[in-house]
Amino acid sequence: MFEVRLITREEIADFIRIHSMVYGRHPSETYFRQANERFDEQRDIGAFDGDTLIASSVIHDLRLTLPGGATERLGGITNVAVQPTHRRRGVLTGLMRDHMTRLHKDGIDFAILWASESLIYNRFGYGLGTWVERWRIEKPYVAMHPAREGEAPSNGTIEYVDADTARAECPDVMARAMAGRPGFFPRTRAQWETFHEDDPATRDGASAFFHIVYRVDGRIEGTATYRVANHWPERIMANEIRVRELMATTDEAARALWSFIFSIDLSAEISADLRPLDDPLPWMLRDPRRLRRVVQDGSWLRLVDVRSALERRAYTATDSIVLDVRDAFCEWNAGRVRLDVSPEGARCTPTTDAPDLTVEAWALASVYLGGTRPSTIAHARGGEEHTPGAVARADAIFATDRAPWTPVFF
Ligand SMILES: CC(C)(COP(=O)(O)OP(=O)(O)OC[C@H]1O[C@@H](n2cnc3c(N)ncnc32)[C@H](O)[C@@H]1OP(=O)(O)O)[C@@H](O)C(=O)NCCC(=O)NCCS
Repeated sequence: MFEVRLITREEIADFIRIHSMVYGRHPSETYFRQANERFDEQRDIGAFDGDTLIASSVIHDLRLTLPGGATERLGGITNVAVQPTHRRRGVLTGLMRDHMTRLHKDGIDFAILWASESLIYNRFGYGLGTWVERWRIEKPYVAMHPAREGEAPSNGTIEYVDADTARAECPDVMARAMAGRPGFFPRTRAQWETFHEDDPATRDGASAFFHIVYRVDGRIEGTATYRVANHWPERIMANEIRVRELMATTDEAARALWSFIFSIDLSAEISADLRPLDDPLPWMLRDPRRLRRVVQDGSWLRLVDVRSALERRAYTATDSIVLDVRDAFCEWNAGRVRLDVSPEGARCTPTTDAPDLTVEAWALASVYLGGTRPSTIAHARGGEEHTPGAVARADAIFATDRAPWTPVFF
């Protein structure tokens, strides 16, 4: 038996050691200090075998952008780790139950996490909410098309800034660049601190961050943060520029930042990660095949309260559909609901009417932000269509005009 509860400040060191150990690391001094500093900003939840801490997890208090642009409270789950001596005894399951109960009690309808392995969280009702792309391109193939017709010629300038300037400017630029984008949540203050502190233990053999900004008439319209991994086999330059984050408030800013990065001398290839599926960059390249694109699962979303969550997002379709929701992990969600949607708003109410569709809570989470169509999930893993055409109607109901994007990894 084990107990799940909030940890105390005195227990932080053990907490940090556990999740560092399961990830195969010894925690750095910086990491210990950061964990102490951010203790009051987050909920650190442990599992205990008697007095011994055997598992860690953290819930960050975040705000998620929903389709339509509204933002709602979000539990950001991270640092999930079970000590190897106690694995496969239900400890993770206990943590997951604790998270769901806590969030539900607090009226928080959404939880998001990045999964270390993509086969862990589906069983707890998480669905694959956003996809991301990892990119790699070799320097000889980075030529870009000229700016699109009608696009004003760039009068902006690129400049390097120090970490303090980046610390001050990046949050605002990210907020403007990501306004209205489903799936986005900004970093907390402490997460920005951790990002800019750039712990050497997280650099994976590359340099510390370089920060550039794109400025137009004095206003910053884009920022990029990158590292350089230096390789000189047989004195031949084979350096890689690793773009950690690039945020642009306009297409012009995006083009200017990418073309600057592509022009940097002493680089053989450029890579980036956590890019959205609808990023315009591949279309700016003259030879788009040369951009190696790997699509992977991004953030995993859990609808803690399905009915409330369905009412909070915006819809462009007008329809009324009865869903028989299955949710073995959060039983308060199970049952039939009628979802009425229109551009004016949505209502989701319990009903005894015959269902049009039977859906699992994880499947609703997977389609909620618009990253996957209900019909794709129906083709892959079923879901019962009781009324002919109901899956196609669900496609129209859950469609969004932009791909969801979660660029913040934690
Ligand atoms: C992943 C981890 C948290 C699982 O903890 P745990 O306490 O062993 O999990 P549970 O005993 O509650 O397992 C619940 C179910 O999930 C399955 N499961 C758990 N981890 C799994 C994994 N990595 N791969 C496949 N299945 C897994 C279990 O087999 C079990 O299935 P069952 O209900 O059919 O028997 C733990 O192994 C760990 O700390 N791993 C390293 C760190 C990590 O990956 N953390 C996740 C961060 S996002």
